[in-house]
Amino acid sequence: MSHFSLKSLFGAVFLFFAFSFGLKAQDGAKLFKQNCAVCHALTDQKLTGPGLAGVFDRAPKGDWLKNWILNNEKLIKSGDAYANKIYNDNGKAAMTVFEGQLTDKDVDAILAYVKNPPPPPGATAGAAATGPATEKEEVKGGIDPLYLLLGAIVIIAIIIGALRSVRHSLQNSYNRKEGKAESEEISFSQEVKQWMGGHRRLVGVFILIIGFAGMKSCWNACYDLGVYYDWETQKGYQPPQPIKFSHKLHAGDNEIACQYCHNSVEKSKHAGIPSVNICMNCHKGIQKGPQYGEKEIAKIYEASGFNPKTGVYDGPQNPIKWIKIHNLPDHVYFNHKQHVVVGKQDCANCHGKVKEMEVVQQQSPLTMKWCIECHRKTEVAMEGNAYYDKMHKALKEKYKGQYDVKFTVDKIGGLECAKCHY
Ligand code: HEC
Ligand code: HEC
Ligand code: HEC
Ligand code: HEC
Ligand code: HEC
Ligand code: HEC
Repeated sequence: MSHFSLKSLFGAVFLFFAFSFGLKAQDGAKLFKQNCAVCHALTDQKLTGPGLAGVFDRAPKGDWLKNWILNNEKLIKSGDAYANKIYNDNGKAAMTVFEGQLTDKDVDAILAYVKNPPPPPGATAGAAATGPATEKEEVKGGIDPLYLLLGAIVIIAIIIGALRSVRHSLQNSYNRKEGKAESEEISFSQEVKQWMGGHRRLVGVFILIIGFAGMKSCWNACYDLGVYYDWETQKGYQPPQPIKFSHKLHAGDNEIACQYCHNSVEKSKHAGIPSVNICMNCHKGIQKGPQYGEKEIAKIYEASGFNPKTGVYDGPQNPIKWIKIHNLPDHVYFNHKQHVVVGKQDCANCHGKVKEMEVVQQQSPLTMKWCIECHRKTEVAMEGNAYYDKMHKALKEKYKGQYDVKFTVDKIGGLECAKCHY
């Protein structure tokens, strides 16, 4: 085998490992963010739990860390000395039990990540920076398939190169046997040029595919940025808000119930946007965020007139001017309570995966067609619903003998103009 083929073999193997390692490290980062970052920093800083810097040195060796993470309660109850020590040192604050939520593999990935966290950006800027930008990108998730495609193309090119030189040396040894002259090895780029000359159409198709994939990823990026949206229905509308409030962080990672903030959603027509007092329930204590430090949370203090240094409300109040995203025209009547409580509809049916959104985006077109299509296909939730006990009987009477009839919303008047229009 010539040099070239060996080198490329190593290259391919290296790339393969680089890819698989990248995926593993990423899983660990993501799992840590989702499950642990609320209570643990990777530095010395104490949040609810101790900072995890140096934990591999102070915790008992072997499977101790794994057992602790999966079920710390069991370990404490078993009388384990170190477990009881940190439990008492932290004022008997309870850590979550992760058994059943995380697998052994997940915990391994998390521990690998805790052992080798990504360096904070601008490592010279001091130890204070705990929210590395790189980490955020990793958390944003999976590798773009486009990169995988490009990676695959590179690997295939390398393998073709290797096979080429193998073929060349085989050809030469054959030529030697037959007593023919050795053939010149033409350069790779020359051969590529020749090949492309002979396969113009294939090359054209290939360029089109790459071009299209590139355009598609630009398009997706624009969509994510909120640059693209449907002008007619405002689907995709995602205005920047005065405070970088993240639903992913609050409702997703920290699992705060939607109703905690949108507390009229089960009681009235409106879901409501929380007042700054609700933010202060937690942010009187939480003065620093993982991504923006004190900057964004300071805006909550400004709005409520709170002075974080003295802990008193002595400043002027300036209500936060949130920009409304969902807007039905005035002539339409829509009621949250009816849909959420009576109709038992999940928020996600109409608002999409809000728990995963850093910035809320309108996910449904809010057109008449959209309302009606759902009313046509959604069955009324009648089981155990006192509100419907009476109506249920009446309907049974009306549709006697047609047991398989589906009581969708349209059958209870969900298509009547006056129900939706003032
Ligand atoms: C709800 C808060 C909370 C969450 C979530 C949490 N922990 Fe903890 N963790 C604690 C507390 C508090 C302690 C200190 C012991 C105690 O009081 O139980 C602790 C202790 C630890 C320790 C021992 C630290 C030391 O100094 O020896 C490790 C390791 C640890 N946690 C890892 C994790 C990992 C990994 C996750 C995510 C899978 C996680 N924790 C999620 C609160 C939490
Ligand atoms: C910690 C408080 C909090 C929690 C928890 C919360 N939200 Fe919100 N939500 C807000 C605030 C503040 C806004 C206005 C700013 C914005 O749009 O991001 C908002 C806006 C929204 C909007 C857009 C409203 C508009 O302007 O049209 C929707 C939809 C929404 N939330 C749904 C949800 C859902 C679904 C959940 C639960 C998965 C949830 N929220 C949990 C505070 C919260
Ligand atoms: C039930 C508790 C709770 C409520 C209510 C709450 N937050 Fe938070 N908020 C948190 C937690 C927990 C964090 C994350 C702290 C951390 O991870 O270090 C946070 C972080 C933040 C951050 C920092 C983001 C960053 O990455 O730097 C901002 C900004 C913020 N919240 C805004 C708000 C606003 C605005 C409201 C009111 C609409 C609100 N929060 C209501 C618990 C709450
Ligand atoms: C059947 C569809 C549907 C469901 C289910 C639904 N919403 Fe809405 N939501 C809407 C529509 C439509 C609007 C626009 C209302 C308007 O402009 O009058 C809206 C508006 C909002 C707003 C903006 C403020 C307001 O009251 O107009 C918030 C916040 C909100 N929804 C949160 C929620 C939460 C939280 C849930 C789950 C508990 C939920 N929604 C369930 C359709 C829905
Ligand atoms: C995700 C499905 C879904 C969507 C989307 C939806 N609805 Fe509904 N709607 C329901 C369900 C389920 C009920 C039945 C609630 C009940 O049992 O009273 C209902 C009931 C109603 C009712 C009461 C009907 C009656 O006869 O009592 C009105 C009014 C209504 N919806 C208006 C709207 C409007 C306006 C929109 C669009 C902006 C809309 N809905 C979008 C599922 C939906
Ligand atoms: C389930 C709820 C629902 C029912 C039933 C319903 N509409 Fe609508 N209608 C809407 C919504 C939502 C809009 C606003 C659509 C938009 O802004 O794109 C709308 C808009 C309209 C408009 C204005 C169109 C425009 O382009 O602005 C008219 C006119 C209208 N409806 C007539 C009717 C008539 C007539 C009926 C009865 C046959 C009816 N609607 C039944 C939900 C409903």
